[in-house]
Amino acid sequence: MQLELTDQILNYIQEHGKADTIDLAAQFSEDHQKIIGALKSIEAHGEILCSETTSTKVWEVTGEGNYVIEHGSHEVTVFNAIPADGISQPDLMKTSPNAKVGFSKAMSQGWILIDKSGKVPLVRRKVETVEDLVQQHLVDIAAGKAVSILDNIKNDYKKRKLLSENTIKSFIITKGPDFTTTLKKLETDLTTEMLASGSWKDLKFKEYNFEALGAPPNAGFQHPLLKVRSEVTDIFTQMGFVEMPTNNFVEASFWNFDALFQPQMHPARDAQDTFFLSDPEKSNKFPLDYLERVKSAHENGGNGSIGYRYKWKIEEAQKNILRTHTTGVSARMLYKLANQEGGFKPVKYFSIDKVFRNETLDATHLAEFHQVEGVLAGVDISLGGLKGIIAEFFAKMGLTEVQFKPAYNPYTEPSMEIFAYHKGLGKWIEIGNSGMFRREMLDPMNIPQNVNVYGYGLSLERPTMIKYGIKNIRELIGPKVDLKMVQESALCRLDK
Ligand code: PHE
Repeated sequence: MQLELTDQILNYIQEHGKADTIDLAAQFSEDHQKIIGALKSIEAHGEILCSETTSTKVWEVTGEGNYVIEHGSHEVTVFNAIPADGISQPDLMKTSPNAKVGFSKAMSQGWILIDKSGKVPLVRRKVETVEDLVQQHLVDIAAGKAVSILDNIKNDYKKRKLLSENTIKSFIITKGPDFTTTLKKLETDLTTEMLASGSWKDLKFKEYNFEALGAPPNAGFQHPLLKVRSEVTDIFTQMGFVEMPTNNFVEASFWNFDALFQPQMHPARDAQDTFFLSDPEKSNKFPLDYLERVKSAHENGGNGSIGYRYKWKIEEAQKNILRTHTTGVSARMLYKLANQEGGFKPVKYFSIDKVFRNETLDATHLAEFHQVEGVLAGVDISLGGLKGIIAEFFAKMGLTEVQFKPAYNPYTEPSMEIFAYHKGLGKWIEIGNSGMFRREMLDPMNIPQNVNVYGYGLSLERPTMIKYGIKNIRELIGPKVDLKMVQESALCRLDK
């Protein structure tokens, strides 16, 4: 049976008293690192050995040196390439890749000469035979017999890049105070049996290695968008919002636009801005009484409004689209809320899900993104309340300063764009859109007159790109996403 390396080392020291790990590596034909590993594991047993670091200079044959060992030195190769009646210098140069070096070495050795007596100068041999000392020396050095060769020769070979001189760190080992050649196996666990029997007193325990790296957890990794989404979900739930069902990407134009008092000739309803479905092209089921009231609000208004005064067409409302915002879901939820058993109750709703727009794609725009939306309905709630909710929401996202700018949405009045001061970027950035829903939208739903509804929306991608320092949206979403980015993206704390 082959002895363990640790036993081989201990036996050697028992016999010789002292050894350098480099010599042991040569002795046992083992890799030096393995000898050091075995030494470390002996040292874990206590003071069995003493070790001291030392460094040794060693000569090693380079790649080119090994070429010489195999094919002979460049000068001998050149010498051998010269035929009995000589050869022109240009022709000689073609005989081997190292002919230039070989030629000048062979010249200075006095092995060859240039004969200029003929028409063309010829290189001829000057001596009959040559001995390849260079090759011989390198063979010896490769076999570990470098000491037998004079230093100036070795230095010359070093200059010729046939040898390199390297320093190797090693250990000189001698017997320690507790020297033994039989290692007891170290215990790694303290068991109840050892405690009960008292055997632990005589056992040797392996020391803890606090430097050891833990095994990488074999787990999945959340995409940054999902991390930010769950943070935003937390913010909404802390503030008492309830999530809306947003599980349908396909929406009838009726819910996405008409229910929101968006006129049928509005440019956002063009194919340039919205993706229309070809199959199924149309939706057929709508609450008909509500649909009639929506039509009437568009055509004639009511409740002080004069409406848009055009002929509203059901065919336009039936067209299926990929929803352009989640506010269609809010409309459906508000309609249900007003018509539920027991009547209207105040609510706070939120959603975070995908929406689609027929955009020109660039570094910050794709044809789809996630919309974050909050909607509140309550008796006599006001614009001040909306501003307060928005300020609190964004403060929880780490944006403590917000400003509002008047804007326009078909379904809200007043409407406000939301700007937040980003400390990291040092500037105001547009971060969302908001407003108080219009009566023309709420009346057809039967939302009571003393109830106001307001809401706001933002994208999930914008804060995610800022948070994770991603400049191009294609690095966040799509086929170019680097899984390493996903694995290595930090935990998300929006307020930090
Ligand atoms: N739907 C709006 C948008 O797409 C966001 C919004 C939601 C605005 C609710 C006002 C009220 O930008």
